[in-house]
Order: sequence, then C-alpha cells, then structure tokens
Amino acid sequence: MSAEDLVLELREATKKYAGVPAIEDVSFGLRRGEIHALLGENGAGKSTLTKVMAGVVPLSAGQMRVEGQEVHLRTPLEALHRGIAMVFQETSLVPSMTVAQNLYLGQEKFFNRLRGIYIAAQQFLQSLNFDVDPTHTVAQLGAAKKQMVEIARAVLHKARVIIFDEPTASLTPEEKKYFFDLVLNLKARGVSIIFISHALEEALLLADRITVLRDGRHVVTDDKANFDRARVVQAMVGRDLSQTLHGQKKTFVRPAGECLLSVRNLRMASMVKNNSLSVFAGQVTGVFGLVGAGRTETFKVVAGLIKRDFFHGGEVLLRGKPVRYRVARSAVRDGIAYVSEDRKVEGFFETMSIARNIYMGLLGKLGGAFGVVSNARMKEVGERWTKLLNVRAISKDVKVIELSGGNQQKVVIAKSLVQEPDVIIFDEPTRGVDVGAITEIHAEINRLADAGKAVVVISSYLPEVMALSDRILVAKQGKVVVEFAGNEATQEGIMYAAIH
Ligand SMILES: Nc1ncnc2c1ncn2[C@@H]1O[C@H](COP(=O)(O)OP(=O)(O)OP(=O)(O)O)[C@@H](O)[C@H]1O
Ligand SMILES: [Mg+2]
Repeated sequence: MSAEDLVLELREATKKYAGVPAIEDVSFGLRRGEIHALLGENGAGKSTLTKVMAGVVPLSAGQMRVEGQEVHLRTPLEALHRGIAMVFQETSLVPSMTVAQNLYLGQEKFFNRLRGIYIAAQQFLQSLNFDVDPTHTVAQLGAAKKQMVEIARAVLHKARVIIFDEPTASLTPEEKKYFFDLVLNLKARGVSIIFISHALEEALLLADRITVLRDGRHVVTDDKANFDRARVVQAMVGRDLSQTLHGQKKTFVRPAGECLLSVRNLRMASMVKNNSLSVFAGQVTGVFGLVGAGRTETFKVVAGLIKRDFFHGGEVLLRGKPVRYRVARSAVRDGIAYVSEDRKVEGFFETMSIARNIYMGLLGKLGGAFGVVSNARMKEVGERWTKLLNVRAISKDVKVIELSGGNQQKVVIAKSLVQEPDVIIFDEPTRGVDVGAITEIHAEINRLADAGKAVVVISSYLPEVMALSDRILVAKQGKVVVEFAGNEATQEGIMYAAIH
C-alpha cells in the first residue's frame, strides 16, 4: 500500500518519559475510512501512542506524517487543525461550562449573543441525531452524553481522524450499542477511527484492522478477519491465556458464613426502591443489573458515600446492628471498604506516589493524624502491595496520575485492601483493566473470600459475575429481584431476570 492511502502514519516512533521509553520504534499506519483497534495490556503504550498523534505529547524520536506530509504537532489544537481529534480516557470537556460553550470554545467571538451559540449548538446536535441539551452544563451529563459532546466537537471541527481512548469503559450496554452505531456512521462519512479498548469482543466486532502493542513495542497489525480472541490475547500477553473468563462457570460454591451486612427496604431518591439484600462472610456475592438498577447507589449508602438528603429510609445492618454512616471514614473504621468504579473522582490522590496513596488508605483506617507519615512504613506497605497486585510503573516514584489506567485501578484496590476490611465492596473492579491484570484482581477477590471476608462484586460484565460469584443477586429498577446460586446460574437466566 502506498503512503498516499494513509491518512496518518508513524514511523519508528519513540516516546520516552524520564529516559524510559513508553513506546519504542513503533510504526503504524491509519487508512482512510477504516476503524482500527489498538490493543494491549495496561501500560503497553496505547494511550501514549495516540497522545502523540493528537499533539498531546511530542515524540522523542521518529516521524509522524499526516496525508503523506511530515508534521511536528505541538498542541492538541494544532492536531485538530490537521483534522485529528482525540476523545480521552478521562474527558477533556470543561465541566462547569454548558454543552454549547464547550462545543464553541474559543469561537465565542463569532457569536454576538450567547443565545446564538445555543441555537447553533441545538441545530448541530440535532443534525447528528444527538439527544443532548446544549444549555446543560457538562457536569450534569452522564458518561454517554459527555462522549456525544466530545464526538460532536470533533465532527464540528471537521476531524478526519478521531481517536477514542477506551470509549466504552463507562457506558451501559444500550449506550455501547448506540456508540457503535455512531462509529459506523462516522466511518461512512469517511472519517478514520482509532479505537482503544480492553473489551476484546468489541474490537473484534467493530474493527477493520487490529494493532497490538506489548511493552511499548509493535507486535502485529492485521485485518480483523485474520484474528480471533485467542490470537489477540496471545499477541497481547505473549503467552496463551485464552481460557480466562470465557464462558467459565463455577462448579463449586463457598458456603455462607455469618451474615455480616444486610440492607432492609432501603429507599433513596428515585434510584433505590425498597431494596433488601444480605451479604455473608466467606463468600463472593455478585450483583448484576442494567442501568438504573440502583446497585452502586445502594452500596454507596452502605459505605457512607451518599449525602443524607438523598437517603429516604430503610436500614443498614452490620453484624445485625443498625448503622448509618454519614462519611466514608466511619464505615472504614467499622471494616467496610468500597472500591470505586470511578477512580478519578473517589479513588486516589493523583499527584502522590503509589506508596503514599496506599498509605493514605491505612491512615484512613487508623485515624492517624493526617500528614504524619512514617517513610519507612509507607515504603514497606507500598512495596508489598505493588508486588501483590503487580502494579507496573516505569519507576516506583511516579505519581499515580502517570500510571496507565489499569495500574491506577490496582492502586485504588490496594488502598482499600490495606485497611483489612471485613466487608469489601468492589464496584466494577476490572473496568479498564487488561486481561492479565483481570486474572490478578480476580485471584485477589477469591483470596479475600477464602480468608473469610464478605466480598461484594458489582459488575455489568456477566462473564465476570459468573466466574467469581458464589451467589448472584440480580437487581432491576432499584432493587434486588432474584438470587441465583453461583453453580446454578446461566447467562440467559441472569439476563432474563435483569430485563423482564
Ligand atoms: N506522564 C508520564 N510520566 C511518566 N510515565 C508515563 C507517563 N505517561 C505514561 N507513562 C508510562 O508509560 C507507559 C505506557 O503508558 P500508557 O498510558 O500509554 O499505557 P496504556 O497502554 O494506555 O495502558 P492502559 O490500558 O492501562 O490505559 C506506562 O508504563 C506508564 O506508566
Ligand atoms: Mg491508556
């Protein structure tokens, strides 16, 4: 294929951070109108490679070409002017501004009144068939709508290349389907798409071609038709892991120990409606459900993470005694940990080191004076957990914000586990985590249950729920509606209960 057929090309691209390569000698070509999936384990260099293309970080060595011409992009705006837009792993919209203001950021001068911006935005969003109110602030929008605004902004700037970094990680199944349609629609308009995802099935479904990176290096690029799941996994991890999680079902379930936690007739705003459930020591209780099932909200009430104004009644019992936590710290002291699905907001202190973050977890439990940190103890705890969960970083002094997404998730988990809780609530524990790390996190979850802890796993990923749970609770519209034993449940049965 000649260079002219490539909209965008990298030749022997290397990007180093503090002298250590995040990507090395990677050559990559993007064809016009193709959907190209970029896959690899956490820390493989996917985000870095695409940040180079989007002008976010400069290359340390190598070349980038757009439409056959060498370019040196210094900012995302320069990339946008070349027709390259990126939808980031963490959104880049300004939360306090309205949708319309975000769309026309920097172009306000072309409108003589604010109303003009809203009218233009309204018409534009409608032309894309996006159901988003341009007068809402971005902070008010859910993940799917934020993404629509980002896509709209890219289309508005006439992007010919749109890069999506884990676009589906925080979408519900329905939103995902809508997103896939959108991507196919963009492709039909001649836009080239790069799509990063840890959901291999999505890549195999959507992509025309697939590229796999490993440890910062290019492993393979080929037509989707020449891949199956096993080949992708093999390329990602360099070994055969194909059995993991796939259609696996438990044959043995752990018996229920003491009932550590129960919730009775919990009500909260419109999200939780008379929810009742119990969680037992020595078991993994899986909680499955679709959007609006109220799973996260229920357990946030348990963990003291919901403001009291939203709490409308019902009871939470810990070892049979009623409790009502107003702040997370009290729940932590009583041995309840909530491992967040939203690491950015609730998970960690992003400019601190890995060890300090984990140590903060310990202080949260001990109630030690904030800031009084024994360096030696911190280092010891940090190293133990980094090793236990296999957190990978180019040096142990990096700030958590500099870790790849999946490794950040492992730090969030370590930070809670260091508190040695008796009840551990995992909310989407492996979202954005690669296949290798999923195995590690699942092993940790099983170890906790084997050690007699009561473990709750909230997950929207059915194979995960099936592989881990001794009991499966299915929630629908604000409450648990059915319970299955882990060895008796079927995918069809669970799905049926979640929908009907
Ligand atoms: N700003 C930075 N400073 C130092 N190291 C960094 C920085 N950004 C990324 N890295 C390192 O570069 C490597 C590649 O990271 P990158 O974010 O590209 O991985 P990724 O493939 O996107 O992973 P994930 O699937 O977890 O998102 C990792 O080892 C990461 O820790
Ligand atoms: Mg990434």
